[in-house]
Amino acid sequence: MSDLLLEAKGVGKRFGGVHAVEDVSLRVYAGSINAIIGPNGAGKTTFFNTLSGFYFPDAGSVSFTGADVTRAPSYDRVRMGMGRTFQTSSVFPELTVYENLAVGIESADNLSFRFRTLSRAQRATLDQKVDRLLGFVGLGAVAHRPLAELAHGSQRLCEIAMSLSTEPKLVLLDEPMAGLAQAETSRVVSVIRNLHAELGLTVLFVEHNMRVVLSLAQQITVLDRGRVLATGTPTEISANAEVREAYIGKEVIEHV
Ligand SMILES: Nc1ncnc2c1ncn2[C@@H]1O[C@H](COP(=O)(O)OP(=O)(O)OP(=O)(O)O)[C@@H](O)[C@H]1O
Ligand SMILES: [Mg+2]
Repeated sequence: MSDLLLEAKGVGKRFGGVHAVEDVSLRVYAGSINAIIGPNGAGKTTFFNTLSGFYFPDAGSVSFTGADVTRAPSYDRVRMGMGRTFQTSSVFPELTVYENLAVGIESADNLSFRFRTLSRAQRATLDQKVDRLLGFVGLGAVAHRPLAELAHGSQRLCEIAMSLSTEPKLVLLDEPMAGLAQAETSRVVSVIRNLHAELGLTVLFVEHNMRVVLSLAQQITVLDRGRVLATGTPTEISANAEVREAYIGKEVIEHV
């Protein structure tokens, strides 16, 4: 069996009287693609945030690469190899794709943002790293356009590329296809597939689009009202009567 990379045990998180997440456990093995699904308000984002360190859980534990990170700040987890899409606020719409990625790489390298003071050798190294990320997400042709001018899907791909700038082992994506048109969704799906196939990365994503989830994920966790309703392979999940009833439009499952 492959290595356990991330493990959540009995995680709980409440907001005032709302039990957003209750007793949620999850295992993510190195080299796998994992999805979290569930209806609106099921607790997916809250749980996801306890994994990334954006929130600390009130109950349970989270371990990553064998270390307990339940109360570790996000930047420690990033240093240990956890990558996540940046908050919207840390992408700069007025900067070009290239500049956004350069900022991501420089902050990952603990440098401040200071293009003009880089030596020629440092600049060449930075260029190489940016080019690699651009090639990976297929944004080479628009590298020097401001992010704000690009289609939604390209902006999303830039965010994914930024999450790679810290050279993670695990990539966490919360609804990477949200709001995208069909063609853009396909581009993001193929990039996620390549993260796994070409870079050997482990992926955990939250997603509403069932077609995407069933075609991409090897392991699916279904949350409902803050709890785990089911965990299994796409085949197991699509055959699960409780899951169908709680969440999945029957017609969607039958067409997959
Ligand atoms: N910061 C917060 N303060 C108070 N309540 C919150 C907060 N964040 C989430 N909640 C509540 O916790 C529950 C779970 O919300 P969460 O955003 O985790 O669900 P979700 O599964 O991600 O939903 P969606 O599919 O809409 O993104 C909801 O009842 C929500 O209203
Ligand atoms: Mg959410």
